[in-house]
Amino acid sequence: MTPYPHLFTPIKIGGQLIKNRIFSAPTGLMSYTARGHLTTENMAYYELKAKGGCGVVTLGESIVHAATGQSHDRQICLDDPHVLPSLTNTARAITRYGAVANIELSHGGKYAGLASIGGHKKERRPAYGPSHDVLPSGEEVLEMPQKLIYEILDAYGAAADVAKRAGFGMVMVHAGHGWLFNQFLSPLENHRKDEFGGSLENRARFLLMALDRVRQAVGPGFPIQIRMNGDDFTEGGLHLEDYKELARMVESRVDLFNISCGSHERQELFVRTHPSAFLDHGCNVYLAAAIKQVVSKPVSCVGALGDPEQCEEIIASSQADIVELGRALLADPFLPKKAYTGQKEDITPCLRCFVCLGESVINGTNRCSVNPVIGAELEEKYYVAPPLRKKKVLVVGGGPAGMEAAITAARRGHEVLLYEKTDALGGALKFAEAVPFKQDLYRFTQCLIRRVESSGVKVTLNQRVDRALAEKVRPDVLIIAAGAQPVIPAIPGIASDKVVSVAQAEANPDALGERVVILGGGLVGCETGIHLGMKGKQVTIVEMRDTLAADVNMFHGMALGQELNKYVTAVTGGTGRAVTDGGTDLH
Ligand SMILES: Cc1cc2nc3c(=O)[nH]c(=O)nc-3n(C[C@H](O)[C@H](O)[C@H](O)COP(=O)(O)O)c2cc1C
Ligand code: SF4
Repeated sequence: MTPYPHLFTPIKIGGQLIKNRIFSAPTGLMSYTARGHLTTENMAYYELKAKGGCGVVTLGESIVHAATGQSHDRQICLDDPHVLPSLTNTARAITRYGAVANIELSHGGKYAGLASIGGHKKERRPAYGPSHDVLPSGEEVLEMPQKLIYEILDAYGAAADVAKRAGFGMVMVHAGHGWLFNQFLSPLENHRKDEFGGSLENRARFLLMALDRVRQAVGPGFPIQIRMNGDDFTEGGLHLEDYKELARMVESRVDLFNISCGSHERQELFVRTHPSAFLDHGCNVYLAAAIKQVVSKPVSCVGALGDPEQCEEIIASSQADIVELGRALLADPFLPKKAYTGQKEDITPCLRCFVCLGESVINGTNRCSVNPVIGAELEEKYYVAPPLRKKKVLVVGGGPAGMEAAITAARRGHEVLLYEKTDALGGALKFAEAVPFKQDLYRFTQCLIRRVESSGVKVTLNQRVDRALAEKVRPDVLIIAAGAQPVIPAIPGIASDKVVSVAQAEANPDALGERVVILGGGLVGCETGIHLGMKGKQVTIVEMRDTLAADVNMFHGMALGQELNKYVTAVTGGTGRAVTDGGTDLH
């Protein structure tokens, strides 16, 4: 008997029975081929989610009309006739595990065709939105002519047909996050004078017609899901009451609502759409709950979910019928199976650090801070053979890297010895427990410690490894994961008892005075500054470079920026010259 009976009660969506209430939210990749086909690696990425046990696996933004709809140049292009084999193989890989394959039909509207793809494609092409516009980049958006509206409507029907032929058991129509339909719905963006502008009824017309085209293509009973916002969180945009109205308008055309919010293309909203670590888990669930009050079709919620306890409660209390998980299933694709079998403590939590999204922007690949398999799903599937010879592995350092290496080596069947110089495992993550926005990091550390304990690794605490010890142990493999040392600037006064390291400050923040200067505005300095600011201290961060957190991925940088503005005074382009009795000399 599972501890989460509501989560694991099957649900019927349209004519489709789905084995549980945990859906993999749409996640796109940046590594499809230039023609918008899925590679074998891409298939393995989606397959792993299905293997982990979720009921539905959703492919991310898949463009119905590539000539005008791509918001970047590596998206699945559903109108390319050659996309079908790779789509079919992906759907098969998903359904093999009893999950339903779902695909998100999308169009970028005014964000398609200009800056997003201009850097990669030789030709520049106009972007079309509901109305004429000029983007912050200075690029012009043309009002979409009706002829193009009807062409895109045909493309929605054709794309749904392709998805069904490929073996997908559900389609999701994307009407949120600032893309095409969200633009048409928004009175802020849609100033049209024809039947596609004006009243909400008119602004919703394009979306409703697209849903009709999709229904015509897939036939009755085939589940159509709509992803829409519950709030744009933009002045002049749509808010919850408007979305309740919209939900009533589309209800007869869809089988499932997924309620998200915000915008992909606006920095301040991105970190709400994909809730940052500074927000509560499930901070957007209330929007789904409100929509659920006004419709009778099932509703799913999304955003910073991953704790099975919380997910169970959401469904048990009828706030939503389904939970959709994005990043939590990157951090641990086996979350559903672990929850089902009561192994909650072994679920790797997502840190909401945005490395996954940041990495894909930098180099088009996939990576997760806490799951080394992400980005290497295919290797993991085929190439990890048991070792031919059991080796003795010596791991130096019991921080996250040392623990992960030790666990992996032990799982592969090697004899592993881990030495840690302090009296506890955890390394630089030990202080996360005291920091409100690092609770997931704390949980992650505890999860690794439990895995080390249960994986047969022999741990020795309070023991430095020197040459003599290494020679005595005589390992076949030596893994050094001894961590980093802080750079201590050689300035006058640095040895004063007023100067402490970040680790000391985080270990005992109450011992600091009320006014704190932090030398160094990288990630660690910024996060410490925010934490101390939250505790009521007056914090100034001094950074030599022109911006704080310069090396942090752009998405976590956005979230940090919002918090820094609340809690910290920043001095950029400044250098600490000396620590004096009166404070800090800068230049
Ligand atoms: C790597 C990644 C890719 C995503 N791609 C898409 C996408 O293609 N379409 C979409 O609607 N949402 C996309 N999302 C947003 C998720 O579906 C989800 O709404 C969001 O991440 C919040 O859920 P979470 O906190 O569980 O991650 C993506 C999220 C991530 C992390
Ligand atoms: S990279 Fe960070 S935010 Fe993304 S899934 Fe992994 S832990 Fe979560």
